[in-house]
Amino acid sequence: MESQQRTEHNGVTVVDHPLAALALSALRAERTPTDEFRRNLQNLAVILLAEASRGWATFPIDVETPLRSCAGAALARPVTLVPILRAGLGMVDGILRVLPDATVGHLGLYRDEATLRPVTYYSRLPKNVDEATVLLLDPMLATGQSAAAAASILKSQGAHSITFVCVVACPAGIAHLQRAHPDVPIVTAAIDPELNNVGYIVPGLGDAGDRYFGTG
Ligand code: URA
Repeated sequence: MESQQRTEHNGVTVVDHPLAALALSALRAERTPTDEFRRNLQNLAVILLAEASRGWATFPIDVETPLRSCAGAALARPVTLVPILRAGLGMVDGILRVLPDATVGHLGLYRDEATLRPVTYYSRLPKNVDEATVLLLDPMLATGQSAAAAASILKSQGAHSITFVCVVACPAGIAHLQRAHPDVPIVTAAIDPELNNVGYIVPGLGDAGDRYFGTG
């Protein structure tokens, strides 16, 4: 099937580039060992970054090649990565390979197993988050509760340019995040059909944190 590379579904950008499909297939496969899961998640984060950064402003700079000067570009605004702990950490190193001067904030939110609602246990954000283009990172957009709570924390610190980047989303999570934060675009590699009764995306890829850290 010919790929369009990306499609828009009600304000959500789905990256269907063939390289994204390869990485996502490896992440989904139950037999993928931890080292390959890590490599594929970091690589897929870079592919998603390419889409999330498509509209970023740049300003012109002069570049000296070995032969002569020519026009180059630099990013107009600083970039801050904010992984939602734990699984969001699995997307940071890949993106830092491309954007090594991005600052990194951390938000720790766990899901109360009874209510499925997020509880914040850690928050440490860079001071300039109000000036930055923020990428909020979590491989799974499941109920959307953690994502929405994280975006609220970021906005309370002055952030006003936030993109949520995930690997697998589902309709319930998208609806929740869009209701709470219609100004936060979502970039994902897939939208899966269902959320099961314990808050896992189906078919999904299982527990992204356990698979990335080898704790499953
Ligand atoms: N978190 C995960 O790691 N996986 C899911 O399917 C849902 C939430």
